[in-house]
Amino acid sequence: MYDKETLEVVIPKERIAHRVEEIAAEVEVWRRGDPLVAICVLKGAFIFFSDLVRQLSQPLFVEFLRCSSYGDCTETSGQVRLTLELEADLSGKRVLVVEDIVDTGLSMQAILAYLTRKNPKDLALCALIDKSHRRQVQVPIDFAGFEMPKGFLVGYGLDYAQRYRELPDVCVLHLE
Ligand code: IMP
Ligand code: MG
Repeated sequence: MYDKETLEVVIPKERIAHRVEEIAAEVEVWRRGDPLVAICVLKGAFIFFSDLVRQLSQPLFVEFLRCSSYGDCTETSGQVRLTLELEADLSGKRVLVVEDIVDTGLSMQAILAYLTRKNPKDLALCALIDKSHRRQVQVPIDFAGFEMPKGFLVGYGLDYAQRYRELPDVCVLHLE
């Protein structure tokens, strides 16, 4: 299925599925039966989010945010823009924001600041992949899927210039 020259599977789909189950169990403990607003950060988190919410119990509400900082590059521009804002009222709610990757932390810092201004009762961050060694600003990740030390990742929702999101595994992209 993959071009072996450029794509190397680093997290196979079976491992992802197992980890999603574990994360869902941790989220259930944290939420203590409260209604939960789960927010998907588009586009990268869309597959992870879909798998995760289907493991969570009711009552659950889904919302979507879109954040952009990369353009078609493999390095962040540092300029974080929210290109889709939230319509839901979060005040007094228990909120889980679901992101694909926390890299420099700049995107998540902006998103968490934006969501905090909406006065949720509790706000937790779930990220599929933590590139903690690349952090430029501190971001508390409450539920992290995998620690990845290096490489530009694609698949399972993650893209390079909008490509490869549909791959079922997380792969490292080897560019010339
Ligand atoms: P940060 O603001 O530097 O933390 O960047 C976070 C965002 O950059 C994530 O939401 C991803 O969308 C994107 N990103 C960071 N690293 C990668 C990667 O390896 N592959 C694909 N997207 C990435
Ligand atoms: Mg993202």
